[in-house]
Amino acid sequence: TPKGSCLESVKIAIDTGYRHIDGAFVYYNEHEVGQAIREKIAEGKIKREDIFYCGKLWNTCHPPELVRPTLEKTLKILQLDYVDLYIIELPMAFKPGDAIYPKDENGKFIYHDTDLCATWEAMEACKDAGLAKSIGVSNFNRRQLEMILNKPGLKYKPVSNQVECHPYFTQPKLLEFCRQHDIVIVGYSPLGTSRDETWVNVSSPPLLKDPVLNAIGKKYNKTAAQVALRFSIQRGVVVIPKSFNPQRIRENFQIFDFSLTEKEMKEIEALNKNVRYVELLM
Ligand code: A2P
Repeated sequence: TPKGSCLESVKIAIDTGYRHIDGAFVYYNEHEVGQAIREKIAEGKIKREDIFYCGKLWNTCHPPELVRPTLEKTLKILQLDYVDLYIIELPMAFKPGDAIYPKDENGKFIYHDTDLCATWEAMEACKDAGLAKSIGVSNFNRRQLEMILNKPGLKYKPVSNQVECHPYFTQPKLLEFCRQHDIVIVGYSPLGTSRDETWVNVSSPPLLKDPVLNAIGKKYNKTAAQVALRFSIQRGVVVIPKSFNPQRIRENFQIFDFSLTEKEMKEIEALNKNVRYVELLM
């Protein structure tokens, strides 16, 4: 993000009423997020405990001995004492080191053998130390979740699994599995992404142009974006829409004054194409 735009956007978001902020070290804007939160606290607009900040452990930091120092680095950047949620960003590990995307001379990713369960134990220790109020995962499939859930001596189970989720990728099976295990699904790309071709599979059509979402929106005097977000929260999926535009930041918050009928929910569920925008081919 251009310098300062994240700071401004988070401040507008907090003023609008957002409290859940989804961040990560690899977004390279945690210093701005932290500053925005601290400025709003200083203004008296919010207290620290009103904010729910989610940070993420990157792929190069999976070895257990790196987990706590990595979280401490994030806290130092944020200038906060704790994060509300700390999650393993992806289930695969990269070679530890300064390179965020370590590659060999042939341009191939250099992976690293770590035991996800050992990484998880280090996450549990962060919670015990009070550095993270809760711990969770991201981009985990059912088998990877089961590995953690079935770990001998498990102290805390993941409270959440952040995955791609929206009307074109509704994740029915994973959602049901997570419901059974009391794991909250946090849906990323709830609006169908920015369609940036460097990381998005744009062969799937633009979500917000969908005729059904637009027709339902017309009925409620809402946009397709608001219908997509409402659909997710109404089925119990947490949404983390991204916008750096003040008007759209506000628009994406105006989803608590209408509700979709059961028939409309079914109609939207039927839009599922089972195709990811974010393929994460690494
Ligand atoms: P912008 O930052 O200019 O608002 P996702 O949350 O699925 O990753 O989608 C993010 C993309 O959707 C961004 O490109 C963002 O652009 C755009 N966006 C966010 N809110 C809306 C909205 N209400 N209507 C249309 N596009 C939106």
